[in-house]
Amino acid sequence: MQKKRLKKILSIVGARPQFIKLGPLDRALKKRYRHVIVHTGQHYDFLMSRVFFKDLGLPKPKYDLGIGSGDHGEQTGKMLIRLETVLKKEEPDLIIVYGDTNSTLAGALAAAKLRIPLAHVEGGMRSFNWEMPEEVNRVTTDHVAAIHFCPTLAAARNLRREGINAGVHIVGDIMIDALRDTAQSPSVFPKMQKGFGIHKRSYGVLTIHRAGNTDDRDKLTNLVLALRKADFPIIFPVHPRTRKMLRKFGLMNKIRSNQLHLIEPLDYKSMVDLVREAKVILTDSGGLQKEAYFLFVPCITLREETEWTETVQEGWNTLVGTDPRTISKALKNIRRPIVHRNSYGDGRAAEKIVRVIIKCLR
Ligand code: UD1
Repeated sequence: MQKKRLKKILSIVGARPQFIKLGPLDRALKKRYRHVIVHTGQHYDFLMSRVFFKDLGLPKPKYDLGIGSGDHGEQTGKMLIRLETVLKKEEPDLIIVYGDTNSTLAGALAAAKLRIPLAHVEGGMRSFNWEMPEEVNRVTTDHVAAIHFCPTLAAARNLRREGINAGVHIVGDIMIDALRDTAQSPSVFPKMQKGFGIHKRSYGVLTIHRAGNTDDRDKLTNLVLALRKADFPIIFPVHPRTRKMLRKFGLMNKIRSNQLHLIEPLDYKSMVDLVREAKVILTDSGGLQKEAYFLFVPCITLREETEWTETVQEGWNTLVGTDPRTISKALKNIRRPIVHRNSYGDGRAAEKIVRVIIKCLR
């Protein structure tokens, strides 16, 4: 009797948060399918890319397209061209894209043009801010995907409002799967504590990388000046985009203070352990808002709006934008709320996603 061909699933990733989302799903998918990983090369620095594959135990991607940086159209266009060649060669039964980056959009368009079924992990998230490139990427991806893996009920509602009713599955947030796995291994906090001279619950962790904040001289200056006034130490792993812009706007000297520690981007495990023991998280990242919430750490979000509205509704997250006075007020008013509804699932999203895929590919 002829052996049944194992179906092939192809994941497209390219940026740091996507490697984290890929980890749990790769492990779950490999048990039943051939899983091909394509790295667009959007993130290419060792600390932004390879370190995550190493630490999360991910296999080396079968393809690394080496696209690198560029303007949005150029970066997305180059990805689209190279992805088409790979997809024609691989002929997968299903393509999976993750989140909201330019790699997500390029993967979605390539799949749609070749009429290959597409699944979107983190479907339905909306900031309703069309200025964000990520919002354009999310909305477009959702409208060409056949299967939508929504982290929350609110995400599924967003899709329904846009007329997307079929193939919508609420599975929880896959970042919680990754976080749960990582949080279980012995903490590396003691090592960092010594290095940074910090104490549990008495320091902040800061990240800034959104183009809306980094590429606007006034906003970035406001942020830097407001944050250096904090009366507790702040550890600031600096994204390469942010470092570039701090230099460009001549802010490197202004930012230096005894309290603000600029460091290289951290590996995932160090970041999780640093966040877990912090007094507060200050960020414009989406993922970090949820990680703070999951680890019961208050978050101050340096944006006007968020896709992760539950964190705000339950009091764990405060939206402050970039106004220095609002930031100062929030820094003086850090509290740990009592309500915590575990709004992003139980850390079993990967399992649920695979169950849906099994049904769909039957
Ligand atoms: C991208 C995503 C964002 C995600 C973030 C996670 C888009 C539109 N944005 O933003 O949704 O939250 O990744 O980090 O896709 N750079 C390096 N080395 C690297 C990567 C980037 O030096 O390894 C520099 C380059 O100068 C590049 C700039 O950072 O021009 C921006 O990188 P890019 O990939 O365009 O977007 P991110 O800001 O990382």
